[in-house]
Amino acid sequence: MQESHIEDTELEAEPNTEILNRAEVIPPELKKYWKSRYKLFNRFDDGIQLTYELWFSVTPEALAIYTAKFIKHCYPEAHTIVDLFCGGGGNTIQFLKQFDKVIGIDNQQMHLDCTLNNALIYADSQVLTEKLVLLNGNWGDDEDERLNVLNESGKIDIMFGSPPWGGPDYTSSEVYDVDWLAPLPLADLLRSMKKYSKNIVLFLPRNTNLKQIEKATSKVFGKDSQVRITRSYVGASLKGLLCFWGDEFCNYSRK
Ligand SMILES: C[S@@+](CC[C@H](N)C(=O)[O-])C[C@H]1O[C@@H](n2cnc3c(N)ncnc32)[C@H](O)[C@@H]1O
Repeated sequence: MQESHIEDTELEAEPNTEILNRAEVIPPELKKYWKSRYKLFNRFDDGIQLTYELWFSVTPEALAIYTAKFIKHCYPEAHTIVDLFCGGGGNTIQFLKQFDKVIGIDNQQMHLDCTLNNALIYADSQVLTEKLVLLNGNWGDDEDERLNVLNESGKIDIMFGSPPWGGPDYTSSEVYDVDWLAPLPLADLLRSMKKYSKNIVLFLPRNTNLKQIEKATSKVFGKDSQVRITRSYVGASLKGLLCFWGDEFCNYSRK
């Protein structure tokens, strides 16, 4: 995400009811993201649609490509991946190239519409009909019956999530506390994802407290469990941490 998650700029809270895809409608505080639009989506000019929030939340294309390929490389037999918090489809689009089935979940219909629109720029509609399921659901709300579909969708190999980092000023404190993640603190988020697969990948802020990640790992997966963490750069810019749980990732050796 992330030319994505904001750096030092104060953003005004704006409802995500509008598509902002022309220079004339981009508010001043989003101009720096507009300048990076081809890093977010190389094919931006083919009709990419983003809301206010997505401008600073979407995963830059190079990072999304790397993430999808690395996951597939570690776990070549994987067929089905869930893209929890799919946003504008930055990750979904690249997962569609690597996996047979992609289930994108978001609680904003406008964002699911953006994911579909943006995926159609990169894949033809036949591929999307065969491979993509988009689900409007409120993750973390156990009462939300719309999420029951996940129980009926066959084996899920990987749960991926690029959760909201709790607002634009995630770097305002030196260390990011895992309890600031939305909609659930890290341990609860892992627990909720583990119900569907033990292979979990999360994209977290670059300044996340590593000790807390280890602590949440032991709490959820047991004392001797492991997490693999990679720093993710686009060019020289550190965008965040990719964190991997599950044997497929932790036993993978670069050799
Ligand atoms: C950081 S963005 C994801 C960006 C995405 N990976 C991309 O590349 O476009 C987080 C998304 O989570 C969604 N979201 C926030 N809370 C949610 C919840 N409780 N359940 C499902 N989606 C949620 C937001 O609407 C937003 O689209």
